[in-house]
Amino acid sequence: MKIFQDFDNGVEKTKRKLFSGKQALVIGGTGGIGKETALLLAGAGARITLHGGSSQERLALTMKAIQERGGEADGFLCRIDGVEAIDRIFSEYSVCAARAAYISRHERFISGGSYSPDILVYAYGPFKRAALNETNAADWQFLTQQNLTLPGCAVSHVLPSMLERKWGRILLFGGANTDALRGFVTTTAYSAAKTGLGVLAKSVAKAASHVGVTCNVICPGLTDTEYADETARAYNRAKSPSGKALSPKMVALTAMYVLANRSINGAIIPVDEGVVV
Ligand SMILES: NC(=O)c1ccc[n+]([C@@H]2O[C@H](COP(=O)([O-])OP(=O)(O)OC[C@H]3O[C@@H](n4cnc5c(N)ncnc54)[C@H](OP(=O)(O)O)[C@@H]3O)[C@@H](O)[C@H]2O)c1
Repeated sequence: MKIFQDFDNGVEKTKRKLFSGKQALVIGGTGGIGKETALLLAGAGARITLHGGSSQERLALTMKAIQERGGEADGFLCRIDGVEAIDRIFSEYSVCAARAAYISRHERFISGGSYSPDILVYAYGPFKRAALNETNAADWQFLTQQNLTLPGCAVSHVLPSMLERKWGRILLFGGANTDALRGFVTTTAYSAAKTGLGVLAKSVAKAASHVGVTCNVICPGLTDTEYADETARAYNRAKSPSGKALSPKMVALTAMYVLANRSINGAIIPVDEGVVV
């Protein structure tokens, strides 16, 4: 499709820059699906702030890849351990956005005087496989906090300024097969939290659709990223209907389609070739 080719062509070759003048924060944007989404968003004209966990090298490489395609990017590292990480992330984001605003003389404030992105992509979502009877309290707390509470806190943080600006895009990532209520044998805590993201997206759509703010969840199938070891890759291949795992870019292309369309709101979208895990 033409719209997909445009996102993929990079800034220089893209005639229509869908997100020119927009600022995007991609949490978990230095690797995997988040990185590919950041690259495509930059190709569509958004100024990107990348958040990464611990790898300065991956952050630098992703920034370089965006800049080489003619896009604008900065970024920072912040390990997400507890809920207070969200405040640290938005405070780091404010520093990046203030610097960019100073350079470009393009000011964007929320009423409280701090900066907030037009587009929030929350990609980071840790996974742990364990049978339900082997999932302990710490696992429950970690997996639900990281995959539901923290995305929820981030959404609550950006929503007021999006409502004020009358424009906003929020994209969350669910898990494989978490697009509906299902039971899971080895990923109950992770999948329960990811399924809950659907309620979050539908709540934002209900509260903010009238002013052009969207929030959606993409549920990727088994995707080979740079983080997958050989065991994970073999599992992904064996479970995938085509015998081949998805690539992060395949997921990111759907992410762009969703971000580009105001009419898609509160949706929970599987991108999984119909795989059943
Ligand atoms: N991959 C799959 O097969 C698959 C399938 C279904 C759903 N999903 C979902 O899709 C989303 C993206 O998954 P993904 O596999 O591409 O990547 P991911 O591992 O969830 O995220 C990678 C990103 O998060 C950062 N990160 C890693 N550990 C961190 C920490 N402790 N604190 C803060 N940041 C941290 C990484 O930075 P560093 O590189 O610096 O650590 C990188 O930027 C997730 O929500 C995941 O649950 C993935």
